[in-house]
Amino acid sequence: MAGMESWSPVMQTVPTPPKRLRAEDLRQMKDKTPIVSLTAYTASVAERLDNHAELLLVGDSLAMTIYGLDSTVGISLDTMIAHGAAVVRGSKRACIAIDLPAGTYEESAQQAVETARRAVEETGAEAVKLEGGVAMADQIAAIVAAGIPVFGHIGLLPQHAEGPGGFRVQGRDDDAFQAILEDAKAVEAAGAFATVVEATVEPLARAITETISIPTIGIGASAACDGQILVVDDILGLYSAFKPKFVKRYVQLGEAVERAAAEYAADVRARRFPGPDHVYGDGPGAAAKDETVKGAL
Ligand code: KIV
Repeated sequence: MAGMESWSPVMQTVPTPPKRLRAEDLRQMKDKTPIVSLTAYTASVAERLDNHAELLLVGDSLAMTIYGLDSTVGISLDTMIAHGAAVVRGSKRACIAIDLPAGTYEESAQQAVETARRAVEETGAEAVKLEGGVAMADQIAAIVAAGIPVFGHIGLLPQHAEGPGGFRVQGRDDDAFQAILEDAKAVEAAGAFATVVEATVEPLARAITETISIPTIGIGASAACDGQILVVDDILGLYSAFKPKFVKRYVQLGEAVERAAAEYAADVRARRFPGPDHVYGDGPGAAAKDETVKGAL
């Protein structure tokens, strides 16, 4: 057969693609090693984070960071799905979870399952995240029973943060402390593989982490948690509307973007850009040259 003579077992060796982490892999990390998590909203950023975080969350915080809204409420499931699919395409190794947006799961367990199914089937994400403990236990249990891993979210619930509860530190009084501890137990009992604990006082984060058997992923909830998550635009210095105390900026990309834009603008105005390196100079009559516009990196 044509081509058979060139076959050799050596040529058949193909590099094994990295194994994508599953929800169960993360669950097993409790008490072993801290879990690193970040939000991701686009393929290009997901590609950069993939080797550094075990869990990438397509958070509905994109309503604020990407779409400029005042809160996470108001983003549609279709928008979350578009970003979820992009993050899955851009990553190979991290476990991907996608937020169910406000108004798409709270009504009933059936509504929650239908929304969760769309979220994972149309993106390829491993898991969904939803906000709420005791009040959302039926929804979590139903989604898990449908075979979809659930990432819980307790403490400060941004989808409900408008109004009296507000964007406030959680668990300062006894009642709130106990209620959030009960939320944690409910999320675990309903079958979640891990839970976000947001903006709680440290003793509460510690109590939750010591009480439940699934990993706690803290955001503004101290180092007592089993892992940490931050909004990627916050660590990159891209989100400038406000900066919570718990955020650490690792780079000031917002300033770098401004500097780059200013330099580009000056180059264009002074006709320094495009320069000789950026121009296809050969016209008709020159030796035919078939060139891709993709260029080199
Ligand atoms: O939407 C989000 O980014 C989140 C994280 C802050 C946990 O829920």
